[in-house]
Amino acid sequence: MSSSAVQTERIISPARNILGSVKLPGDKSISHRYALLSALAKGTTRLTNFSTGADCASSLACSAALGATVKHLEDGTIEVTGTGELRQPEGNLDCGNSGSTMRMLAGLLAPMPGTFTLIGDESLSRRPMERVRKPLMQMGAHIELTDGHAPMTIRGAQLKSLDYTTPIPSAQVKSAVLFAGLNAEGTTTVREAVRTRDHSELALRAFGAEVERTMESVSIEGGQKLSAIDAAVPGDISSAAFFLCAAALFPGSNLVFDSLGMNPTRATLLDVLTALGAHIGVLNLEEKHGELVGTVQVNGPAEGMTGTTVSGALAAQLIDELPVLAAIGPYTKNGIRIRDAKELRVKESDRIALVAQNLRAMGAEVTEFEDGLDVPGGQKLHAAEIDSGGDHRIAMAFSVAALGATGQTVIRGAESAAISFPEFFDLLDQIAER
Ligand code: S3P
Repeated sequence: MSSSAVQTERIISPARNILGSVKLPGDKSISHRYALLSALAKGTTRLTNFSTGADCASSLACSAALGATVKHLEDGTIEVTGTGELRQPEGNLDCGNSGSTMRMLAGLLAPMPGTFTLIGDESLSRRPMERVRKPLMQMGAHIELTDGHAPMTIRGAQLKSLDYTTPIPSAQVKSAVLFAGLNAEGTTTVREAVRTRDHSELALRAFGAEVERTMESVSIEGGQKLSAIDAAVPGDISSAAFFLCAAALFPGSNLVFDSLGMNPTRATLLDVLTALGAHIGVLNLEEKHGELVGTVQVNGPAEGMTGTTVSGALAAQLIDELPVLAAIGPYTKNGIRIRDAKELRVKESDRIALVAQNLRAMGAEVTEFEDGLDVPGGQKLHAAEIDSGGDHRIAMAFSVAALGATGQTVIRGAESAAISFPEFFDLLDQIAER
């Protein structure tokens, strides 16, 4: 969160149950991609249920700075009129707190004529950017970083295609290479050992590009033009994750999500919660621009949650949901064990360190590893002062942990929730029975 943002606190009281029905704002990952690709597409893209988070507003603002016309209509629809190219802006491109904006823009801008400087807030300026510079440089891009970090200066160049195997599972790196490939000479291929979220592939297709997929690779031919779309963004399943985990804490809970994104590369948490004992039903599954959308109902486990280990490919697929999963670990019978999740250390905060610190503040025993955590089950938590570290997912994860604790928990830096989910605290109040 920007260091200039006013720090606020939220007090979370324990809950007895979780009940209700919610429709969540649009998925953050999909909104970013639609916001950026619509700037490059010719014509007017209409987006409903666009993410309300500050991160996606950063992507829209960058699109506007790059020459697109962005309109916020009264009914909440966002219209983006693209010109078919991205033009050098007058000033810096401010990506705020958003790693997705910076990394994906790097790919889109590398082949554009002009010079572009991408900046971010304090947290984003600490995050690793070499991971996108490296493959893009192999394509012929000119990118400067300071010690591997933002600010990032891109001097547009003619790019050639690349066959790239990602060294770490990262949808942002994959997307940067594919987006660069859209305007490179020849066919660019990205191979990944673990299939990360595939929204870029689906969005590129939605905007009219041909994308070829095999089990382990994605290819795009350079020189393809994009055209505008009309789309409703599916509800954000990573935002739903906080309420799904909250519901899993209480045997009598019953929560329904309308129009929730159910992309299989994102829905792994539903399998994990089912394995923990929650009952999850999916109704009315349909496909919109390649993305699955459905109605999801969750009921808490009658016998309480068991426990599980998340490692390997699962850790990569659940990367954004791991903080909240760890935060409910003490309430399970057998605990939550997380490994192969070193990437958590380079997110908006060091999420392994902050989860451990805050669980301990609430009285839990927890062991920290370089690539994960052991959170034993059968523990009781008490209220504490939570340090969110300005990280939205830490603020929300511990608001969920606080629902099962004794006393009133204070979430410091609660404003950070607005990075992805500004409605979080209001909706939590609506669904939590006290
Ligand atoms: C995202 C990819 C993930 C995820 C982030 C959003 C995306 O990051 O953690 O919140 O939209 O592509 P990495 O690509 O760094 O794994």
